[in-house]
Amino acid sequence: MDQIEHIKLKELISEEEIRKRISELARDILQNIQAEELIIIGLLTGSFVFLADLIRECHKHRPLYGIDFMTVSSYGSKMHSSDNVRIDHDIRIDIANKAVLLVDDILDTGQTLQAVVHHLRQKNPEKIRTCVMLDKSEARKVDITADYVGFKISNAFVVGYGLDYDNRFRELSYIATVS
Ligand code: IMP
Ligand code: MG
Repeated sequence: MDQIEHIKLKELISEEEIRKRISELARDILQNIQAEELIIIGLLTGSFVFLADLIRECHKHRPLYGIDFMTVSSYGSKMHSSDNVRIDHDIRIDIANKAVLLVDDILDTGQTLQAVVHHLRQKNPEKIRTCVMLDKSEARKVDITADYVGFKISNAFVVGYGLDYDNRFRELSYIATVS
């Protein structure tokens, strides 16, 4: 257990488990999405560590066609629909008629992913698939599931491997619960 100031971090998923799971995910993704022109879109900031590892594993199977990022923020009540998600920075790459894999760190209420999928569909991609490193299915408030999930976890607050608590702990190479 790491103790940082008054915050206690307890390892939930180790670096080794993450590495192994990402290599399985990359294999599944590229086996199932046959399209040659696969574009990966990451949601900043939380997904950047996961995405950096995932794209390199993907490339072991096949080159990607492009990688881009979006920044979104959610505000207002987490109880209500995707109207509460604002797009701060949109993708620049053209995804029309391309296969898209949308990557986020964690699926919690589901509001973010639902809103972003809806937004991207308007750009006429051939298909959109979704991938999240973590899935807290108990926390879901909207009807959405991710096509590829790294780990299902229970409803506790986690940090590390891109995930933050007040912008801290993103740099941890493992995933931890906070107390
Ligand atoms: P959703 O719209 O509720 O699914 O929110 C997903 C976003 O909430 C993620 O992209 C994270 O930024 C954030 N989030 C949800 N749960 C956690 C957590 O346990 N730790 C850190 N960030 C979280
Ligand atoms: Mg996020």
